[in-house]
Amino acid sequence: MADFIDRPLPHEHRVETLIAAFEREFGRRPEGISAAPGRVNLIGEHVDYNDGLVLPFAIERSVLVAWARTRPANERELGLGLYSLDLDDRDDFGWLSPPAAQVGEPLNDDWTAYPQGVVWALQSTGSGVRGMDLAITGDVPQGAGLSSSAAVEVAVAGAFRDAFDMPIDDVALAQLCQRAENEFVGVRCGIMDQFASTLSVRDHALLIDCRSLAHDAVPLRLARAGLAIVIANSAVQRELVASAYNDRRRECEEAVVELRRRLDHPDLTSLRDVGAADLARIEIDSVPMRRARHVVTEIARVAAAVDALTRDDFAALGTLMVESHLSLRDDYEVSSTELDLLVGLATAQEYVLGARLTGAGCGGCTVNLVRTDAVDAFSRDVIAPYCERTGLPAVMYVTAPQDGLRAWRL
Ligand code: GLA
Repeated sequence: MADFIDRPLPHEHRVETLIAAFEREFGRRPEGISAAPGRVNLIGEHVDYNDGLVLPFAIERSVLVAWARTRPANERELGLGLYSLDLDDRDDFGWLSPPAAQVGEPLNDDWTAYPQGVVWALQSTGSGVRGMDLAITGDVPQGAGLSSSAAVEVAVAGAFRDAFDMPIDDVALAQLCQRAENEFVGVRCGIMDQFASTLSVRDHALLIDCRSLAHDAVPLRLARAGLAIVIANSAVQRELVASAYNDRRRECEEAVVELRRRLDHPDLTSLRDVGAADLARIEIDSVPMRRARHVVTEIARVAAAVDALTRDDFAALGTLMVESHLSLRDDYEVSSTELDLLVGLATAQEYVLGARLTGAGCGGCTVNLVRTDAVDAFSRDVIAPYCERTGLPAVMYVTAPQDGLRAWRL
């Protein structure tokens, strides 16, 4: 029987391969490595840009950056050398003044836009960016809703911070990376992905209040409960911009304007200000109102999930995950036939406590709470029939919460 489990290569092996590639490409030894993980979101979807609560954690997949400063007096002192090991592609940017921002321009979707965007954002903080050569490799699946772009941004920012001793704390670093993606790349993402990639804590989920940016590591005692997190990749690529993402953001803004009027609440500035009692007072009779219902109920589900985790009540967490999926499917409309099929097959198994789409949706992955002794059964009962019915090459990853950004000198 085929095994659909996709396992990461050992970390040390990836680091050694990257160092060798850097030496080949730039003709000297790198000075340091920066490593930033992808993330999975346990619950709290499409609420970060509505000032809500989210509960992601870093996964065992990461982007690694090997770096070395260009020597002073070198003509490339202020330049950026970029090498992608995975694409075997090299690009050099010899700017003498900051590269122009892409604000308002069409999406900048070349792979170099992410590191360039970070350099642009760092420069605009006046934090003393000098020239660097960077070699990059990653094993976070791309376009799968596991934040491969945030991982690139955070790893690059981590390399610069370490190389030039920049006084930037972790929260500011995450914000700077979000700004690079919003304003340079052109995707209006929230703060969740960059925040999780930077600040996650091993064996914990990260509760983030996206309004105040207060955050708290919530213990995720999965092993003791005999449980594992399984990520199922539908193998349908999700294009963040081409997808409904920016439309959903606009609909939420419309909902705020509409609710301000209907609830007679002139101070309402985001959907975070709306409660279940408010929603009960009005009829859910339009698209923006359905979007609002998802956001308001999802924020309440995150609070309930944190409460369940403090009691190790994983059955309750599982129920909340399934409710989240239904709300994303029906009210927010960011699921797909494939994601519904994956969730349907999963929830039909008695060893699955919860399942939902994770990330922006419209393709990408589901996150599943599964009994550890049934991980192989999941491959047989969920992934195999999914592949057979859709003809798509789905895979699954078994993961546990990891630390966020790490940087070290060689
Ligand atoms: C993407 C964005 C995040 C968040 C999720 C949906 O991953 O980058 O900011 O909005 O979608 O929860």
